[in-house]
Amino acid sequence: MSQRILVTGGAGFIGSHTCVALAAAGYVPVILDNLCNSDVRVLERLHQITGSTLQFIQGDVRDAALLARVFAETPFAAAIHFAGLKAVGDSVSDPLAYYDTNVGGSLMLASAMRDAGVNTLIFSSSATVYGEPEHSPIPEDAALRPASPYGRSKLMVEQALVDLYRSQPGWRIALLRYFNPVGAHESGLIGEHPHGKPNNLMPFVCQVAVGQRDKLQIHGGDYPTPDGTGVRDYVHVMDLAEGHVAALKHAEIQSSLVTLNLGTGQGASVLEVVRAFERASGRPLPFEIGPRRPGDVPAYWGDPSLAQATLGWRARRSLDQMCADSWRWQQRNPEGYR
Ligand code: NAD
Ligand code: UD1
Repeated sequence: MSQRILVTGGAGFIGSHTCVALAAAGYVPVILDNLCNSDVRVLERLHQITGSTLQFIQGDVRDAALLARVFAETPFAAAIHFAGLKAVGDSVSDPLAYYDTNVGGSLMLASAMRDAGVNTLIFSSSATVYGEPEHSPIPEDAALRPASPYGRSKLMVEQALVDLYRSQPGWRIALLRYFNPVGAHESGLIGEHPHGKPNNLMPFVCQVAVGQRDKLQIHGGDYPTPDGTGVRDYVHVMDLAEGHVAALKHAEIQSSLVTLNLGTGQGASVLEVVRAFERASGRPLPFEIGPRRPGDVPAYWGDPSLAQATLGWRARRSLDQMCADSWRWQQRNPEGYR
């Protein structure tokens, strides 16, 4: 019988793409999401892509009674825990909300799993746990000094799960540190649609390209990088999604706790992203170089070699493909799922 996987936050950007990869690999994803940052209409799109109706539970990962019921009703093989809040600026203005959802929600989920005897957990961590790195590519054993409550909430969960594993080594845990996820499923049916003004580069670029915004503000052109703009490790969301499947398969083989970077191992500058997007969309992308954004790191990218050695996974999709897929999604769904 196909294994059921609980996907918290599965209606969101990375979670929805991971549901597609799980279904393609023969798993049965079951989504638990409170829809605080997603749209229920993603389910119809997932149906179109996968050909099956995914089970959806609308609820909060901090709801202990709900989790107990969910685990009692369904024999899950594992959980992938995406549910959380992710806006760095909001985490500074409302840190308690971030610790409550990200730390509290993760502890609630791990406790419910322990009580139900489900011991395989894949956790969405972030490269933000490294803060400003000494050098790139960043290996997993680099210093951890997150610069925001959001980043610290991710690090706290990592530490709690390491302690849990030490106390009960039967657990199978993967802490996956994502670099900068962008792109969309190649069908153009699912993608990222942030509420309000996007903070992140790719959604902003997409909105400029479809004419919803006049121009891109490039935050800083005087960084010590080849063209002066910030450099990041952009990774296609479908590569990330497949990384989760690889982590599940690894967990099936042996009890372990692994901490892995999921990125391409290559940095791209803001101007390189702009040029790649222009190639993908076939239209010029107006931009203006402005001041640096407070708190931004000039440049970083990850070392994904441990993920490749451990999981046999590596990111395969190029920056051009990330832009082409983002563009297809944005063009076909300028208002997101609405
Ligand atoms: P997203 O906001 O699109 O998805 C998160 C989902 O979790 C949403 O559907 C939201 O409704 C749901 N959710 C939030 N709080 C919940 C709660 N209390 N109970 C149930 N559901 C809840 O974000 P995403 O980009 O898909 O990110 C997924 C995970 O990956 C997050 O934990 C995020 O911190 C982490 N991450 C994201 C990035 C990124 O750039 N997107 C980078 C590194 C790590
Ligand atoms: C941000 C978060 C990080 C999170 C990551 C997820 C901060 C400080 N960090 O990182 O915690 O894990 O998103 O992808 O918010 N840029 C512009 N113009 C824009 C938007 C961005 O020039 O309108 C530049 C930025 O200065 C940066 C690059 O584009 O050089 C990428 O920015 P962004 O997408 O926000 O990601 P990060 O800054 O890496």
